[in-house]
Amino acid sequence: MTTSTITKMTAPPSTAYKIVGVPEAYADVIKRHGIPGTFVGSSEQESPWVPFGPNAAIRHLLFDTRHNIFSNILWIKSAGVIGTHKHRGTVVMICLEGSARYLEYDWIAAPGSFIYETPGLVHTLVSDNPSGVKLFGWLQGPVEFYDDNGNFVETVDVWWFIHHYESYCREHGVPINKQLYI
Ligand SMILES: [Fe+2]
Repeated sequence: MTTSTITKMTAPPSTAYKIVGVPEAYADVIKRHGIPGTFVGSSEQESPWVPFGPNAAIRHLLFDTRHNIFSNILWIKSAGVIGTHKHRGTVVMICLEGSARYLEYDWIAAPGSFIYETPGLVHTLVSDNPSGVKLFGWLQGPVEFYDDNGNFVETVDVWWFIHHYESYCREHGVPINKQLYI
């Protein structure tokens, strides 16, 4: 690409550190019906690591019950396997630390790797890394887990993830963080 074909970047128009009011024709509608964004800090008080089997934990970040969307960080603590599962929705993942792969594919996710999963996929997540893996995930729709013989075990969806988070908080005296619910 030559410099003459590169689109000149004109935004952002300012470097001033100030809050700027902008025109909004439907400000009153947004005020009445809009859903505010959310923020979850990094402390365990804001969202603890909740055990997920003997060698893994989940740090819940968001529950959207309207769209059956749930976001979290999955931590496999050392080399190990997360059971075979089938997706009924879409998943976006980024590898944050360590490494992981699926037995069914030939790639290995390392920090910064991007993973996109679609309805109908069936696969088995493993980490061969002694330090395991941390995966940020944005998941939509149910996930079905199967045993070693291909027998259906359980469906996990937004309700399952809320229950997983809240039951741990109740048992350990951690306050339920309303910021996780949109
Ligand atoms: Fe998956």
